[in-house]
Amino acid sequence: MPISQKEFQQRRQELMNHMASNSIAIVPAAVPSLRNGDTEFRYRQSSDLHYLTGFDEAQSVLVLIPGRAQGQCLLFCQEKDPLKELWNGKLLGPEAAIAALGLDDAFPIGDIDDILPGLLEGRERVYYAMGKDEHFDHRVMEWVKVVRKKVRSGAHSPGEFLMLDHLLHEQRLLKSKAEIDLMREAGQISVRAHQRAMQMTCPGLYEYEVEAEFMHEFFRAGSRAPAYTSIVAGGANACILHYVDNDQKLKDGDLLLIDAGCELHHYAADITRTFPVNGKFSPEQKAIYELVLKAQLAAIAEVKPGTTWNVPHDTTVQVLTAGLVELGLLHGAVDDLIKNSAYREFYMHRAGHWLGMDVHDVGDYKIDGRWRELEAGMVLTVEPGLYISPSNTRVDARWRGIGVRIEDDVAVTRGGHEVLTAGLAKTVQEIESLMAAR
Ligand code: GLY
Ligand code: MN
Ligand code: MN
Repeated sequence: MPISQKEFQQRRQELMNHMASNSIAIVPAAVPSLRNGDTEFRYRQSSDLHYLTGFDEAQSVLVLIPGRAQGQCLLFCQEKDPLKELWNGKLLGPEAAIAALGLDDAFPIGDIDDILPGLLEGRERVYYAMGKDEHFDHRVMEWVKVVRKKVRSGAHSPGEFLMLDHLLHEQRLLKSKAEIDLMREAGQISVRAHQRAMQMTCPGLYEYEVEAEFMHEFFRAGSRAPAYTSIVAGGANACILHYVDNDQKLKDGDLLLIDAGCELHHYAADITRTFPVNGKFSPEQKAIYELVLKAQLAAIAEVKPGTTWNVPHDTTVQVLTAGLVELGLLHGAVDDLIKNSAYREFYMHRAGHWLGMDVHDVGDYKIDGRWRELEAGMVLTVEPGLYISPSNTRVDARWRGIGVRIEDDVAVTRGGHEVLTAGLAKTVQEIESLMAAR
């Protein structure tokens, strides 16, 4: 297992250390999602439950009760069942789960309605992520009601509900060495997939043929899924920020923007590269590309402990706006153009987001209304872009339809930062030489 049982135990302990006294946390599994009829999408465990257990079965619930003498870490999960296992694969079962996951106790999920009210009884606070799963929210309320009904016979029902997210997601935001190692591996698998795409791309291919190369490279490396739906956007499709149709023919003279990264053992990579379909940038494509690259490198250089979250973004805005003025795409004083957000016509998203088990990972960006400071162990993307709409008649026709984004994954380290997706061609020259060697 890529994350050791000891680390999962430490995560639970750390969470319990931060929970208020006399409290209980309830963490349910993800609900399987139907594709149609009785066919399900491949199951993906909730990041919170996986983070605390490494356990990937549906129909399970982790319960943490710090300080409980008869056991603090409890799991409800499916019982072993030869018929179910014949159809759907092995189940761990509560008996084996205790040792396999380092828990104090485990019970059949079918017994949860009988057991959970008893666990809630006498606890003052319940940590639970309300509002994500209506059905489970309702069950939690029902369990509390059971305790309330017994108040006259001396039972004490919880007085306070707290969002588990705050504690747990602050913890998830700071990655351990093992997590960074996994994210580097996910990054490097994704780097290889992007290299493969650059080397096979040529005019006449369909976008989905290039997407297939990503799937091949991801799956053969042990990744079971992309971390998000890959964006493979030829020409002006790059100006549709969440383009995922990926079904158009690649044209000679166009750029190809690919935003794709794998998920490895529940950790995401998120890389974007933009390169010429025919292997050679046109002068306009090169000018826009080099401006985005300049902004990206300047923003990455700012990533270090103590930098506030907005600094890399503000850096990209500064560099891009000044560059757009130089290219004649914006007119006026750079400071004014920034003040009145003129750049948003070409750069309408932020420069990045937290990255971790979720591609847009958990963790607050502001604390008490202020952008937070970066700390060693945080991982973020740096992904500026410029998108010139094909219908933008305010700019010269030669610029229209060019869309460029460059995205890498950056871990904050004690001494500064590490680019987890390093090694992938990024300068015009690196890209053109890699593509010339096809
Ligand atoms: N691929 C999603 C993003 O870059 O945020
Ligand atoms: Mn991306
Ligand atoms: Mn991203």
